Amino acid sequence: MSVKNKRILIIIGGGIAAYKCLDLIRLLKKNNNEIKTILTKSGKEFVTPLSITTLTKNKTFEDIFDKKSEAEIDHISLSRWADLIVVLPTTANFMTKLSLGKAEDLATTVILASNKEILLVPAMNVRMWIHKATQKNVKILKDYGYLFIGPEKGEMACGEYGEGKMSSPRQIYSYIENYFYKKDLVKNKNFKALVTAGPTREYIDPVRYISNESSGKQGYEIALALNKLGIETTLIIGPSSLISQKSIKTKKIVTADEMFTEVKKSLPVDIAVCSAAVSDFKPIKKNKNKFKKDQSYLTSIQFKKNKDILEFLSKNNRHRPRIVVGFSAETENLNKNSILKMRKKNCDLIIANDVSKKGKGFNSDYNEVSIIDSDGNTKIIKKNKKSFIANKIAEVIMDKLLIDDRNFN
Ligand SMILES: Cc1cc2nc3c(=O)[nH]c(=O)nc-3n(C[C@H](O)[C@H](O)[C@H](O)COP(=O)(O)O)c2cc1C
Repeated sequence: MSVKNKRILIIIGGGIAAYKCLDLIRLLKKNNNEIKTILTKSGKEFVTPLSITTLTKNKTFEDIFDKKSEAEIDHISLSRWADLIVVLPTTANFMTKLSLGKAEDLATTVILASNKEILLVPAMNVRMWIHKATQKNVKILKDYGYLFIGPEKGEMACGEYGEGKMSSPRQIYSYIENYFYKKDLVKNKNFKALVTAGPTREYIDPVRYISNESSGKQGYEIALALNKLGIETTLIIGPSSLISQKSIKTKKIVTADEMFTEVKKSLPVDIAVCSAAVSDFKPIKKNKNKFKKDQSYLTSIQFKKNKDILEFLSKNNRHRPRIVVGFSAETENLNKNSILKMRKKNCDLIIANDVSKKGKGFNSDYNEVSIIDSDGNTKIIKKNKKSFIANKIAEVIMDKLLIDDRNFN
């Protein structure tokens, strides 16, 4: 396994560890990788354009208003050119700029205009790293989807000891190697996923229905996260205000029956994530006309069970997806009940969330979940944005799929 034929843009920030970029460039230059670099104004105090250019064999970009090359609009073209952007070292100051969405020089403008993933490699004094302001920025940037490696614990250039030391060029190289290994594998395998999201509506008459408070956000974010990993994703979503994304095949449904039909049509897939809050019951008969309010009491409405989509998928003999993920919204005994559900429904992972507390779960931008696998291993993701939780869930799914794929072949 090695990094081959990739285009990597390295942004070199103003930290004492900047000189280590030369070792990383040397490692990456093997196997036909092309490297372009941007040197920040402070970065230039620590490493010279000449040494970088000697290794990369490319000019070093520095100025956003470069008269010679801005005819090509570097701040756009550099990120379009790259397969991955690495910021090394990522200083405390640089993270502040990114978390504020600044575009005040070439490096920050390229990042803000980027359509690529960005790997941050922080390096700073331990006090700078553990400062609340820095930690707040790290949290914001992780929410935004930036990737991080390090920092490590160790002795620093200033003589102090603690967390803040930059990961070594070897460690960074291994991270990049693993990153592209997964990306290429996913690309070559043409993995497909289906995600169900949102509520369903079961009409009792032409205008009234039984439903629930699900917004569909968590499933929607999972579909985006899987798609970002290179997986062809179909999202089957109940009534919601979320805007369809071009890169995701979106099928809008209203009732549980419609969702079931669309799920069947989307098979076969490799991954199925059932995050929709599907109504368990539907009226046996929908009243032809609107129930009148002048009745003193409503004639009783009889319900029957809807099809269990999760069970249909995980017990499907012909087209069982390789990874079936269920959701378990509980108000008590979260883990115990979720594990029971996973066993009963025969799924591979269950995402358990406690919906008894306000401010997370249903109809909120936040969630807190436990990802439990069929061996009972549990990964707790503390309260965070649903997009962040979705990325974590997608990572676990992918790791499981890749292990399964390795064992399968
Ligand atoms: C000798 C020296 C070493 C420095 N090392 C670091 C460092 O390791 N990490 C860091 O966050 N800032 C460090 N700084 C402060 C940054 O250089 C400063 O915040 C700068 O504005 C960062 O520029 P950038 O945002 O382009 O990376 C150092 C400053 C000096 C003078």
